[in-house]
Amino acid sequence: MFLSPGHTRTVAAAPVDSTAIRTEGLRKVYPRADGDLVAVESLELTVRQGEFFGLLGTNGAGKSTTIGMLTTLVTPTAGSAWVAGQEVTADPVGVKSRIGVVSQNNTLDGALTVVDNLAFRGRYFGMPASAARRRATELLEQFGLADKATARAHQLSGGQARRVMIGRALMHLPEVLFLDEPTAGVDPQARDDLWQIIKALHKDGQTVVLTTHYLDEAEALCQRLAVIDHGRLLASDTPEAIKASSGARTVITVRYDADAAPAAEAAHRIPGGPHDVAVDGPTVRVRTTRPDGVLAHLLRAGSAAGLTVRDAVTTPPSLQTAFLTLTGRDYKP
Ligand SMILES: Nc1ncnc2c1ncn2[C@@H]1O[C@H](COP(=O)(O)OP(=O)(O)OP(=O)(O)O)[C@@H](O)[C@H]1O
Ligand SMILES: [Mg+2]
Repeated sequence: MFLSPGHTRTVAAAPVDSTAIRTEGLRKVYPRADGDLVAVESLELTVRQGEFFGLLGTNGAGKSTTIGMLTTLVTPTAGSAWVAGQEVTADPVGVKSRIGVVSQNNTLDGALTVVDNLAFRGRYFGMPASAARRRATELLEQFGLADKATARAHQLSGGQARRVMIGRALMHLPEVLFLDEPTAGVDPQARDDLWQIIKALHKDGQTVVLTTHYLDEAEALCQRLAVIDHGRLLASDTPEAIKASSGARTVITVRYDADAAPAAEAAHRIPGGPHDVAVDGPTVRVRTTRPDGVLAHLLRAGSAAGLTVRDAVTTPPSLQTAFLTLTGRDYKP
């Protein structure tokens, strides 16, 4: 980097590899009157440059808190995080200048025009007025929003506002783009539009970190995923590897009108076994790599025991079943 004479700057050691983000023992505790809440615990993450990385977890898992710490908005209780070569607490200004953040809530200035929302962000990062306006206009065109440039931001739909926020986050060409639940609450068409935009950015080399509680979104977009639950990292790998690590098992769940124990007893004798059988009140759940005939067997066993079937579901290996295997409970976003 060129520094003018007399200009000194202390720069934290930059990683020499291609790491965009690395965390070590990252922790966040929110103090509460009724006992401290550990929102993120011992988080170890690595995101490579150019990667499309997803943070997947149910409501309250700790996704936004993690993004908050990586983007300098939330102060970690312990641990370290390096983003674009800078440590977040040692050099928050340096981190902020290298990242773009689209938060979960609409943070556009509703009273300003759309183009001004973007241009003002460019000015904030030191761009000359004409260059800021030019880049703002280009981004709005790229995102199919040219006709909204002079509309007030409060007049936008939820999906349009998301697109404008992504444009605003890209004004200063950030090294890492953070998107916190970019498609939450938008309709399917707007969600598809957002997916196309985000995919195109990634194809052009943008490092993207996205949080979502949609399993299909995580699978469709992300090259690697961190699955977090109650603030803890359960798995960090490609979606395929996470599914495979769950043993790639099919889950067959049958709910009867009464205690499922007699049917579960019979499930242990299903041909092709042994299968993994669990009973929870009226529900029996079989996890197996050999699912053929299991459902029919459970239905027959229930009938022989005088039980009536209320519900029966077969779930092939998926992130859903991986989550179930990792946590022992259903994924309920
Ligand atoms: N400022 C805060 N003060 C106290 N507790 C908080 C605060 N922010 C978050 N929490 C708590 O920390 C936990 C993690 O919250 P967080 O917002 O990180 O989850 P999330 O995964 O982003 O959830 P969602 O999918 O609902 O956005 C939750 O139990 C939440 O109630
Ligand atoms: Mg959140």
